[in-house]
Amino acid sequence: MVGLFSLVTGRPGPTGYGSATTAEEVTEGIDASDITVLITGGASGIGLETARVFALRGAHVVIAARNMQAAGDAKKLILESIPDANVDAMKLDLSSLESVRAFADNFITAGLPLNILINNAGVMFCPYQLSADGVELQFATNHLGHFYLTNLLLDKIKSTAKETGTEGRIVNLSSIAHLHTYTEGIQFDGINDESRYNDKKAYGQSKLANILHANELSRRLQEEGANVTVNCVHPGLIMTNLMRHSALLMKVIKIFTYMFWKTVPQGAATSCYVALHPSLKGVTGKYFLDCNEMSPSNLAVDAKLAKKLWDFSEGLVRSAQAQ
Ligand SMILES: NC(=O)c1ccc[n+]([C@@H]2O[C@H](COP(=O)([O-])OP(=O)(O)OC[C@H]3O[C@@H](n4cnc5c(N)ncnc54)[C@H](OP(=O)(O)O)[C@@H]3O)[C@@H](O)[C@H]2O)c1
Repeated sequence: MVGLFSLVTGRPGPTGYGSATTAEEVTEGIDASDITVLITGGASGIGLETARVFALRGAHVVIAARNMQAAGDAKKLILESIPDANVDAMKLDLSSLESVRAFADNFITAGLPLNILINNAGVMFCPYQLSADGVELQFATNHLGHFYLTNLLLDKIKSTAKETGTEGRIVNLSSIAHLHTYTEGIQFDGINDESRYNDKKAYGQSKLANILHANELSRRLQEEGANVTVNCVHPGLIMTNLMRHSALLMKVIKIFTYMFWKTVPQGAATSCYVALHPSLKGVTGKYFLDCNEMSPSNLAVDAKLAKKLWDFSEGLVRSAQAQ
């Protein structure tokens, strides 16, 4: 367990890593040359640094991005410092289930293996808006798109793990913000209700959904005996484009809370640790912060809520397909 003291001082937790650890440090000495990793939102922020460090360790990196110009620039940036990097970019808009389907079809048609899926993309504190499928945008992008993507790629992840004998890993980027959600956790009876919409709680709800999704999927995979783990991370507080809807507020908050903020290389450390570190072999259904395991909220470990969210999400996907 890591506490506030460790967060501020960077003192390592039981794993030997802490809030000051960078993604490069946590993957030091790991050879990922037989790994294919897919990173959603890999064109900026934490996702881009995660992509760069995976490329540095020799992995085949697939950046999934809605903005192909940004993805091309990200690839160029990585190649500038790692000339032999194996990086590809593919189009994915998580706020459209049709786009998610098309992405998964393209990925599978390309015949690529898939060892690691990092569900990293996200939006935060958006003004009320509906996705292409008529679902509140933060829930649609952060949870539903990733839920559908993961389901569509699951057979590929399982078969890659079986064929290679290497454990498959799925990592969901959640947030400490999962603590700040609606009273009932997930507003099943009004996911799109504009009159009850609160941009901060809607973000917290979507980040709670990331943990519930990981836990239910982890349970299902364990039941099947699949060689695939699913875990969640809170990357820390990092100034990125994520703050675009609250840039001024965040800059003011940062003045008073500067000791809690991380750099982007530190912010990508927990994702890289959970996705790649050999010490986490077989570890599944857990939540990590500063490269150490931590307990999320009571709602986040509610197995009934996780099952309910799974069924609800399947229902949303079905009704989008019927439209
Ligand atoms: N930064 C923090 O302090 C913090 C704290 C806790 C959790 N997190 C989580 O960390 C993850 C990464 O965030 P970040 O800080 O690195 O922010 P970021 O730089 O804004 O990265 C988010 C990425 O997601 C992409 N994205 C947004 N909507 C998308 C969509 N509909 N389809 C496909 N991609 C989409 C963005 O693409 P565009 O550039 O096109 O928008 C961007 O590349 C998020 O899940 C976030 O919730 C971050």
